[in-house]
Amino acid sequence: MTAARPATAPPRPWALLAELTHGCPLHCPYCSNPLELARKSAELTTTQWTDALRQAADLGVVSAHLSGGEPLLRPDVAAIVAAADGAGIHTQLITSGVGLSRARLGRLVDAGLRSVQLSVQHADPGANDLIAGRRSFADKERAAALVRDAGLPLGLNVVLHRHNLDALDDLIDLGPAWGADRIELANTQFYGWALYNRAALLPSREQLTRAQRTVQRRRAELAGRTEGRIELIWVVPDYFEGNAKPCMGGWGALSLTITPDGTTLPCPAAASIPGLDAPNVRDHRLAWIWDHSRAFNRYRGTDWMRDPCRSCELRERDFGGCRCQAYALTGDATATDPACRLSPEHALVRDLVDAPSERAPGGLGHPRRPLAAPRRRPHDRTT
Ligand code: SF4
Ligand code: FES
Repeated sequence: MTAARPATAPPRPWALLAELTHGCPLHCPYCSNPLELARKSAELTTTQWTDALRQAADLGVVSAHLSGGEPLLRPDVAAIVAAADGAGIHTQLITSGVGLSRARLGRLVDAGLRSVQLSVQHADPGANDLIAGRRSFADKERAAALVRDAGLPLGLNVVLHRHNLDALDDLIDLGPAWGADRIELANTQFYGWALYNRAALLPSREQLTRAQRTVQRRRAELAGRTEGRIELIWVVPDYFEGNAKPCMGGWGALSLTITPDGTTLPCPAAASIPGLDAPNVRDHRLAWIWDHSRAFNRYRGTDWMRDPCRSCELRERDFGGCRCQAYALTGDATATDPACRLSPEHALVRDLVDAPSERAPGGLGHPRRPLAAPRRRPHDRTT
């Protein structure tokens, strides 16, 4: 493998996304996992995760999101939490809530778990279960109560799309009802399974406008609460705004992702970029991967840019947008992200959001085929 030589030492990462498994009991149509899921037999062992976490701490990482798939499918998740905690890394569990019992949570808390982020698909139990592809709303409500009883900070994460944006008020109501400290309203980012199912997920501009007004109104209300303050995070829908998002805070700038089989990436979707030559933590030290691997240096900084980004005054602020989205939409990962209104290929996004008639039909009112044409992620290939 070729080693790239950065002219100056890159900044240190502070965050790690540890994808413990691609196995998952849910089948959400916007799943951020790659189309090609890692098999269970290829997953890193407990010892390998322990070693990787120690190396991450040495590199400067202080925060790890333990994610998946569903991390609770790993029987050793408490051992992994303990390894991170022992290395000085705070851990947050990112979970569907399915499989979380009081005893299991107790072991995780004893191991040093600091917080939990719980996914919710819809405020209506039936709609939640349709989107998730299985009954899970009751598990989520129970999991929220367990987390609250354990005294851990609880965040709710809602991926927003055309089938739940109109239920935003009810989704936000779940925050106080379930004892959350934070609600992340994450408009769907169209990579992987979400790109595959884009025609069925893309909302209308009118839906988004209404949702943005709802968020403003509810933020003001929630800020006025004297107790139980709840932070409301709105992850912008970049397709609709004409602005590129500063994806990952820059390529190889703040964080890294280790996938279930040890592949180490600058972002969760980077494996989709051909020829990336992604390193694996089984073969290389994390410090080498971060500082010298070709994959981490390929789009670091601004030298790789071409116009319009190269001469744009916003290039240090948004880093030219998202490399994975640029590749997915144009076939060239060095292109300006088409979400940016200055991109020569912005029409790829603009025409799509302005042409609702081209979207696939479908709706949750159709009980047998809730999302019509699109395919969900496949049923679990790892278990
Ligand atoms: Fe950002 Fe590039 Fe668009 Fe400028 S041209 S705003 S740097 S994506
Ligand atoms: Fe890979 Fe944005 S998701 S750079």
